[in-house]
Parts: sequence; C-alpha cells; structure tokens
Amino acid sequence: MVDAGDLLAPYVDLVMSEKGQRRVKAELLLEVMAKTGIDAMTVGRPDFAFGKDFLVRNAAAWGLPYVCANLADSETKALIFPPGRIVQAGEVGVGVFGLIGKGYVASGLEVTDPLEAARVTVADLRARGATLIVALANQTAPENDRLARKVDGIDIIVAGSSHRKLDPPAGDRDTLIVEPGSKGKYFGLLELYLHLGGRGFSDLGAARRLEERAERFRHRVVQVQARLKTSTRPREQRRLRRQLEVFEKAIREAETAETVDGSSHGFVNRVIPLGREIPDDPGVARLVSQALERMHAAAVAGLATSRQAGDSRRSFGDFVGAQACVTCHEREYEQWRGTRHAVAYRTLASAHRQFDYQCFGCHVTGHGQPGGPTEPLDVGYLENVQCEACHGPRRAHVAGPDAAPPGSSIDEALCRGCHSREQAGDRFDFATYLPRVDHTSVLRSGKAAGGKPRGPEETGGPSLPGGPE
Ligand code: HEC
Ligand code: HEC
Ligand code: HEC
Ligand code: HEC
Repeated sequence: MVDAGDLLAPYVDLVMSEKGQRRVKAELLLEVMAKTGIDAMTVGRPDFAFGKDFLVRNAAAWGLPYVCANLADSETKALIFPPGRIVQAGEVGVGVFGLIGKGYVASGLEVTDPLEAARVTVADLRARGATLIVALANQTAPENDRLARKVDGIDIIVAGSSHRKLDPPAGDRDTLIVEPGSKGKYFGLLELYLHLGGRGFSDLGAARRLEERAERFRHRVVQVQARLKTSTRPREQRRLRRQLEVFEKAIREAETAETVDGSSHGFVNRVIPLGREIPDDPGVARLVSQALERMHAAAVAGLATSRQAGDSRRSFGDFVGAQACVTCHEREYEQWRGTRHAVAYRTLASAHRQFDYQCFGCHVTGHGQPGGPTEPLDVGYLENVQCEACHGPRRAHVAGPDAAPPGSSIDEALCRGCHSREQAGDRFDFATYLPRVDHTSVLRSGKAAGGKPRGPEETGGPSLPGGPE
C-alpha cells in the first residue's frame, strides 16, 4: 500500500487561524497511516504546511516509510527522506521511490531535477534487486507523462497531485499511470499478474469486460438470426441485419483483444469508493473521535477566553439576521422555522463540529461573502441557514423595504453552493428540494393569508406575499 502525497493539508499556505485545527488533523492522519502498515509514501507541497521539522519529526516518530528522491535540505544538500526502498512482495522485489514536482516547497528545502533523480534511483533500485519499479510522483499530469516517456524502467506511476480519478489507468503499455481521486474517497487497487520475461502490461479487466459482453452477444446473434429467417418485412430485416453487424463486431473485438500470453504482464485496475457501506476500523474511529474532541475542547477554551477579553456582539456587514425580518414577514419566518435550515447549526453542534473550519461554512449564513462570518468561533447571530443565505444581505431592505431593489432570483446554483455534489452526492434534486423551502408554494397551499403583520411602512406597499416574479 502506498500514498503519493498531499495528505496533510489542502494547500501549503493555510490561514493562520485555521492552522491549529489542521495540525491536529495532520497528526491524526500520520498516526493512522502508521497503523495501516503502509509500505511507502511520498510528499507534496501541502504536506509542508506545518514546516519541514513537523513532518520530519512525525515521520520519524511514527516510523513512516517516506521516500523522495529529489527533495533536499537547502543548506546541507542532503536528501530529507531516503530516495526509495525495496518492498518484498512474495518473490518480487518492488522498488518504490518518490518524486516531488519542481518549484518552491517550503523554507529550508530544495527540489532537484525529477528526471535526473528518477534515472539515478531506478538504476540503484534495479541494482539492489528490484524487478518491478513504482514511482510515487507528486507532480502535474504533464510532468508525469514526461517521466514515463523520458525515464526507462518505471513500470507504474502512482500520481498524487492532480487529484484525478483515473479508471482505466493513463500511460501506455510500458508504464501505467494510476491515481484514485482525492480526499480519501477512493482506494485504488491495482492487481498485477506478472510473467517471467514479460514486457508491458495489458488490461485484463478490459479483456474480461469485452469477453463478458461478447458472450451476451453470442446468444443474441442466434436469436436475431432465427428472427431474420422468419421475417418478411424489409424494414425489420434491415434493422436486424444492422443489429447483427454490431454484435459480430463486438465479438470480433473480444476475440482479438489483448490477452496475457506470457509475452506481457496483466493488470486489473479498480477504484473502490470508500462509502458508508465500508465499516470504520474501530481503533481508527476511536482515534478520530478523540482528535475531534481535543479540537472541540480547544475551540471551547478559545471561545471562553475571547468572551472574557470582552468581545462584544458585533455586526456582520450587510447581514442583519432573520430576527430583523420577522416583524414584516412573519409567515415566511414561521415556514422557514419548520425547515432543516433553521436547525442546521444545532445539527453541527450536537456532533461537536460547529467550530470545525471544514464544517461550519454551509451550516451558517453568509460565509464566504463580504461581511459574512469567516471564523467558526465568531458566527454571532448568523448561526443556521437563514433568510439571507438565499435572499442575500438585506440591511438596506430592512431600513427601507420599498426602496430596495428587487431580489435576485433563487436558482439551483445558489443551493449548489452548499448542496454540492461533493457534500451530498446525488441526494440533492432541485425539483423536489425547492418546494420544501419555498414559502410561496407552502404558504399558498396552507391557510388563507389574512391578518398578516406588516412593517412600519404599511401604507401603499404592495401586499405580501407577492407571486413569484
Ligand atoms: C448556506 C448553505 C445552504 C444553502 C444556500 C441552501 N441550503 Fe439547504 N441545507 C443546508 C444544510 C446545512 C442543510 C442540513 C441541515 C440539517 O439537517 O441540520 C440543508 C437542508 C436542506 C433540506 C432538508 C433536507 C432533508 O434531509 O430534510 C432541503 C429540502 C434543502 N436544504 C433545500 C435547499 C434548497 C432548495 C436550496 C436553494 C434554494 C438550499 N437548500 C440552499 C444548507 C444550505
Ligand atoms: C459544502 C457545504 C457543507 C459543508 C462544508 C458541510 N456540510 Fe453538513 N450538510 C450540508 C448540506 C447541504 C446538508 C443537507 C444534505 C441533505 O440532506 O440533502 C448537510 C447535512 C449535514 C448533517 C445532517 C444530515 C446527515 O448527513 O447526517 C450533518 C450531521 C452534517 N451536515 C454535518 C457536517 C459536518 C460534521 C461537516 C464537516 C465535516 C459538514 N457537515 C460540512 C452542507 C455542508
Ligand atoms: C433555502 C432558501 C430560502 C431561505 C432560507 C428563505 N427563503 Fe424566502 N424565498 C425562497 C424562495 C425559493 C422564494 C420564492 C421566490 C423566488 O424564487 O425568489 C422565496 C420568497 C420569499 C419572499 C417573497 C414573497 C413571497 O412569499 O412570495 C419573501 C418575502 C421571503 N422569501 C422572505 C424570507 C424570509 C423572511 C426568510 C427567513 C425567515 C426567508 N425568506 C428564507 C427561498 C428562501
Ligand atoms: C419593515 C418591514 C420589512 C422588513 C423588516 C423586511 N422586509 Fe422584506 N419586504 C417588505 C416589503 C414591504 C416588501 C415588498 C414586496 C412585497 O410586498 O412582495 C418586502 C419584500 C421582500 C422580498 C421579496 C422581494 C425581494 O426584494 O426579493 C424578500 C425576499 C424579502 N422582503 C426578504 C426580507 C428579508 C430576508 C428580511 C430580513 C432580513 C426582510 N425582508 C425584512 C418589508 C420588510
């Protein structure tokens, strides 16, 4: 099992205030990696978000098998980690080495030419008995293509920086390039069937899939041929003949597909989603919840100090909060209070994640917008997904509703800002979700509108609720 870097943080220049939490998570990841018994891992730029010493110290403390052939101390010029190592897999010595992409990494470090480092390391690993060479390459896709072309003898490149989900692998027959997505959502499993003296790799998975399809089509061919014999309508006959052509072509394809005959090695690549159906390891789950609790406790302590320091309730730019709407839009307010949006913050809080930088943004109002909250410890009256999450900041409207410009339209893109595919998978469906939050439809289907409280500027204002557009 290997890892090609970008493990510890999303980028190297973390926001100062977020660093503390990210460090707790990075320490957790390193400890868990050690528990997995990983065979080799390399680094990317983001792995130095906490500095060189943090990584070197933790790697040593956990005995992590980091390798990198072109990352050196800028003063001593010595490599930070061993360039590569040999992992014995049955009778096969697998030489694994690491590479990091060109450019600045972190202070005190220097990246040397990856191609040159690769040539030297491949030769060294081969000399030490490795028969299969794996590069863990934390660099861009074009750089990895160049590595495959320019350096002989690399069998597999595990890419780690462009975060693509490659299935089937990229590369060519001589060098496979694999990369199983990002954020630990997938586990890449590459099965190899090696033959003594074999050269290059052929995709057994593809051959197998073609053969399965051909098998189905062989049955259909028999059926279609029988139909063709009895058919009298020319149009049907033409259609059946076209079908036959398609089936026979697929069968020929399977028959001529590459198979492993001893002249090449075979592989089957799988990119396995790590969904909820795969149970957590109890030991790891315990470590995760302990780390999260530590993080939460630190945030609670921080909150207490900042409150003692006398931070007063501040305002957030043009965001005024739902309480400012209730006097004039009581029915919309009541409808909203019945939705999950009104308790989104409590949902997080009951999981003790409301102070987590990676969580709070979508469970509050105005995050990422001018004036909106930027710190999980400082969301004030903007807890939950309130009116202004959908209708935009409304300070001016509250001051003078009639003068306010017409509201911007609420479309799927707005919802997708939080109901992203990454967050909710395919769960979010605009057509079914919208009616559950849109007050106009809910209110219209509900009780009659009479007796609604109005704002101070009662006189002459158009009546609420107005129809859509
Ligand atoms: C600021 C982020 C944000 C925006 C914008 C947003 N939502 Fe949500 N939505 C959430 C969160 C967070 C929850 C989950 C709250 C909970 O369960 O505590 C949620 C829950 C929901 C639910 C309830 C789902 C359930 O399981 O019952 C519906 C329906 C919904 N949103 C519809 C929409 C629609 C439609 C839009 C766009 C008009 C939208 N949301 C915009 C964050 C947002
Ligand atoms: C990109 C926006 C976004 C971020 C970031 C986010 N959430 Fe949510 N969360 C949502 C939305 C949207 C829903 C509602 C999904 C639905 O029901 O369709 C939701 C629902 C939930 C729910 C209730 C439903 C469920 O799936 O159990 C919990 C609990 C939750 N989020 C916790 C978290 C935690 C913990 C984090 C941080 C690790 C987090 N959220 C980060 C948008 C977000
Ligand atoms: C999840 C998104 C969302 C939230 C949160 C939300 N609204 Fe709306 N609101 C809508 C949609 C959708 C419409 C329908 C009109 C449109 O598409 O612009 C609407 C329409 C309205 C209208 C127009 C009048 C009407 O009823 O037709 C008012 C007023 C309004 N909302 C007030 C509020 C208030 C006040 C809150 C907070 C208590 C709130 N909204 C929270 C989505 C939202
Ligand atoms: C002082 C009374 C008053 C307050 C407070 C108020 N509104 Fe309004 N709002 C109105 C009136 C009057 C209209 C006129 C349009 C109509 O009748 O549809 C309106 C219209 C709207 C509309 C529909 C047209 C548009 O501008 O998109 C939305 C959405 C809306 N308000 C949201 C809000 C939100 C969100 C708040 C709280 C932040 C709020 N309003 C606070 C009186 C008020």
